[in-house]
Amino acid sequence: MTRIVAPSILSADFGNLERDIKMLDRSVAEWVHIDIMDGVFVPNISLGFPVMKAVRKATSKVLDVHLMIVEPERYAKRFVEEGADYVVFHHEACADPRAAIAEIKAAGAKAGVSIKPGTPVEAVLDYLSELDLVLVMSVEPGFGGQSFMPHSLDKVRALRKVIDEKGYNCLIEIDGGISAKNAREVYDAGVNVAVAGSSVFNAESPQQAIIDILNA
Ligand code: DX5
Ligand code: ZN
Repeated sequence: MTRIVAPSILSADFGNLERDIKMLDRSVAEWVHIDIMDGVFVPNISLGFPVMKAVRKATSKVLDVHLMIVEPERYAKRFVEEGADYVVFHHEACADPRAAIAEIKAAGAKAGVSIKPGTPVEAVLDYLSELDLVLVMSVEPGFGGQSFMPHSLDKVRALRKVIDEKGYNCLIEIDGGISAKNAREVYDAGVNVAVAGSSVFNAESPQQAIIDILNA
């Protein structure tokens, strides 16, 4: 299975954001992960449309937008218009996931759903066939730099089994506490896309940290 790393810019230096995005643009990372937090779904506020627009301008990488907001269907289309390639909303925040998926796809992007550590994979099985991506949170969403929760790998394995058995065209992504130390077991469990924030941006060489995750 091909391995993808999606560095999360939540841990970037926002005073030098263009520099950091250009650095990622020159790295081997294929994706860039953008965390959108509304201060309601999660107890933190990150960034919004103007910053996202600036990121889109600075890189041609795949933009993976992780919406940690209530009522994501209200803004999903706008994120596509601002240049998201993937729009990933939270199952727990959305009353009608099927409608949100359809709207994201109609706007021209790939659709993903994310589940918090306490949400079982069974919650999304009903509409898994319609998804391009499922994101398993391996920390409580809201902040970078937290410790990886090992039980998330059981959820990844369960999803991998269903996706493979049914032949669905759906990527598995994991987010929270990923570094070169645990990347191997994460990919081996069936993850396609590993998000990494602090382990990349706190490294002496972020570009090397990305390579180390891919080669773990
Ligand atoms: C947390 C965000 C993550 C965060 C990951 O809610 O969704 O994308 O940036 O940060 P690390 O890799 O430091 O756990
Ligand atoms: Zn994220």
